[in-house]
Amino acid sequence: MPQVSRWFIRASLIHLVAGFTLGGLLLVQKVATLHPLLWRLMPAHGELLLIGWILQLTMGVAYWILPRFSRPPVRGNVAAAYSAFFLLNSGVVVSAVGTALAQPTVLGLAGRAGAALAAFAFAFNAWPRVKATERTPRDSILP
Ligand code: HEM
Repeated sequence: MPQVSRWFIRASLIHLVAGFTLGGLLLVQKVATLHPLLWRLMPAHGELLLIGWILQLTMGVAYWILPRFSRPPVRGNVAAAYSAFFLLNSGVVVSAVGTALAQPTVLGLAGRAGAALAAFAFAFNAWPRVKATERTPRDSILP
């Protein structure tokens, strides 16, 4: 598995654990009010799980399995994939912290901009790789 996929997938697992922990806290908060400010963690919970976990896991696996080129760089623009990794993770963290601190306008917007740029960077890498797999001698025996 390529390094950037390992980074994406490991980071997505960290977001999963953090997001579920916040979800658990919010669930407890619903039945036994721990602290009123805990409700501020709800957008961060959604952000960590929808973007940090689900989207990031998808990106990591897609970078790994999309068809490769026969000549290097076999997985296309590697810098774009690393940029997507850093932009996505900083975007999620900035946006989650912003909403938790009740600063959704400035930090929330900055975080979303990071995630949007990550989407562009990822698509820049992935778009040319969405192509028919090159045929190998083994394919000639398959229907
Ligand atoms: C992949 C899994 C999950 C995703 C994508 C997800 C996503 C979301 C989203 C988007 C919200 C609304 C946030 C907002 O309005 O700003 C939410 C709310 C909430 N989530 Fe999750 N969640 C997931 C798993 C969990 C888990 C495992 C728990 C509990 C352990 C949990 C507990 C909650 C609670 C208590 C709320 C607040 C509900 C309310 O009072 O309206 N979530 N979740």
